[in-house]
Amino acid sequence: MADTDLMDKVVSLCKRRGFVFPGSDIYGGLANTWDYGPMGAQLKKNISDAWWKFFVLDRDDMVGLDAAILMNPRVWQASGHVDCFNDAMVDCKECKSRHRADHLIEDALPEEKVEGLSVSDLDALIKKNEIKCPKCGKVDFTDARVFNLLFQTHIGPTSNDSEPVYLRGELAQSMFVNFKNYMDTSRKKIPFGIAQIGKCFRNEITPGNFIFRTIEFDLMEFEYFVKEEDWEKKFDYWLLEMKRWLAFVGIDEKRTRVREHTEDELSHYSKRTLDIEFETPFGWKELYGLAYRTDFDLKNHMEKSGKDMRYLDPQTNERYIPHVVEPTFGLTRSVLMVLLSAYTEEEVEGDVRVVLKLQPEIAPVKVAVLPLSNKLNDDARKVFDELKGHFASEFDVTGSIGKRYRRQDEIGTPYCVTFDFDSLEDGSVTVRDRDSMEQERVKIEELVSYLKDKF
Ligand code: GAP
Repeated sequence: MADTDLMDKVVSLCKRRGFVFPGSDIYGGLANTWDYGPMGAQLKKNISDAWWKFFVLDRDDMVGLDAAILMNPRVWQASGHVDCFNDAMVDCKECKSRHRADHLIEDALPEEKVEGLSVSDLDALIKKNEIKCPKCGKVDFTDARVFNLLFQTHIGPTSNDSEPVYLRGELAQSMFVNFKNYMDTSRKKIPFGIAQIGKCFRNEITPGNFIFRTIEFDLMEFEYFVKEEDWEKKFDYWLLEMKRWLAFVGIDEKRTRVREHTEDELSHYSKRTLDIEFETPFGWKELYGLAYRTDFDLKNHMEKSGKDMRYLDPQTNERYIPHVVEPTFGLTRSVLMVLLSAYTEEEVEGDVRVVLKLQPEIAPVKVAVLPLSNKLNDDARKVFDELKGHFASEFDVTGSIGKRYRRQDEIGTPYCVTFDFDSLEDGSVTVRDRDSMEQERVKIEELVSYLKDKF
């Protein structure tokens, strides 16, 4: 399958089967906003629940946080986001399309290094090389100018007399500004982490590629506080854990790679960063990140807020500002990469079968109960009623049995349970495995434990 085909097919399946719809569709949409339908909302929730269990509940060195999206604007001044969270952009004077200057150069001149270049350097490169507009082919761009990615809004009835507040551009700052609260209340000893899942907002210049780069997205992230001398050991450890998570959630490891940030590319807060990239149909792209943020953030907040952010070591009585290793996981990007990894086409008896081979843990529907005939609906429903307390289940009565299998394959349901006329006699049903399509006859009274064993 050609790569572009794969993307088109996944986007089309997402709409057809209720995973993802264009945002505000009936009003013509709002560019790069997406709504998650019944299957997508459940898939996204299952991934975030699995992440929370994997990185928080199953460990004793991690605690959770659910912070406000709006914070005192001084947080974003102290963090450097007001001054440094910028991209350079240019507009095509001919077709009015807008482009990120660094992306424009990278695409036109792949050998050129753009990391760390100033706006005027980027501008000069575009002009010197007469880079064409990818949309209309003209060479006629405005001068490059800086654009801050933080979304601004105002609190109160009038916007004129209040200072702007920002929709958070990353989760991390809420972990840092709460660090003192955690020290005072949670009894955690270093090393430990504060984890959070939530919405972030970035006024991206060139969003796109479906749910890959959007202006509003969900992040799963933790700040892991360590002694300075331990950061490298913990950095290596978390990289291994991130790889273990990839396999657990069903992201095809063969299509991932680790890329080290060059010195010029590092964010203003980081001394070392790695990206875990995924080979998407539109090239190698960042999926997750792992950064060593030093003590930059806590130190800044201590200076700017005047509050003591030092940790008191209970054993040595030493007070110090901890250093931070930060693994970060795009949730909406995880949804896309899981779908790209799971999408499969198989030839079955001269027909193409589309299957989402999702990990059973994250499949939106775990079991579907399908009565073979409408006459069997009442009896089959009793089986569904029994199962639904144990597994996310569906009762599906519409269409031929073949069509119903096909629909369940397309939404990634691991097991279908068919209730037929023999079921009335022998008290058994047929369980069909999504991947092997093998069928097995199982006693209804043993069905829950049979499926529990399977999961
Ligand atoms: N606290 C560090 C931080 O926010 P980042 O690399 O800027 O780091 C973290 O973003 C992750 O968020 C990325 O690895 C990616 O998965 C996801 N992400 C970033 N921008 C995004 C966007 N515009 N749309 C969807 N996901 C995005």
